[in-house]
Amino acid sequence: MRKSVLFIVLGLGLMALGLAGCGLQGTPDFSRAEHTPIPTLPKATMPPVEEALEQQAEQAGPATTPCRTTPVDVLVAWFDAGLPGPDGDPFTMTDLDGNTCQLTFDDVMYVFSSPGIWYENSPSCTSCHSGDPESALGQLSLDSYENITAKEETVGGGDWEASHLYDRLVVRKDMPLGRPADSPEKGLEIFVGQVVQE
Ligand code: HEC
Repeated sequence: MRKSVLFIVLGLGLMALGLAGCGLQGTPDFSRAEHTPIPTLPKATMPPVEEALEQQAEQAGPATTPCRTTPVDVLVAWFDAGLPGPDGDPFTMTDLDGNTCQLTFDDVMYVFSSPGIWYENSPSCTSCHSGDPESALGQLSLDSYENITAKEETVGGGDWEASHLYDRLVVRKDMPLGRPADSPEKGLEIFVGQVVQE
């Protein structure tokens, strides 16, 4: 008897609380409701660790090894391939380990836009040669395919040894500006592209 009275009292109390809540707030506006993240509990049926690892590996695709090469070698390979742009085909070269490597225009941009790849703490080419070619240093912008190839003489019409890039990087060896005389001929070792055949 005493138990059921208690339940009735409790029930009425809860109802009153609920009604009071609705009455105060009117129609609940769910769009403004704040979402409290609910901690996710591990699924009751976890696949074994090996299975999970296998799945992960499948999603990541086959492992790729980057190629060990130099900035100048990347540019030579790019010229040899006929200067393919961002939508062009990937191109190949042989890296310092004798591996066949596949590169894309992204790797060429890496060469022009990375600091520290010509000698220790070297500035990037694009730190001086970027933006509007008219206002860039030397009226040369190396920040996009369009800008790099805008002037015939920069790329020597596709002939590496006729290009101003070759002249400044290999003959005069004065770029990046301030390059020390004893800096490595082809720049420092870099890791770009991917090995397609060892
Ligand atoms: C600190 C600024 C600076 C950096 C970094 C720099 N350059 Fe230059 N570059 C210049 C200036 C200034 C000139 C124009 C004066 C001259 O020709 O020496 C120039 C001129 C050139 C020219 C000749 C332009 C032409 O139309 O003939 C080429 C090619 C060139 N730079 C390539 C590069 C490359 C490639 C890099 C990166 C490896 C680089 N530069 C990094 C400042 C820089």
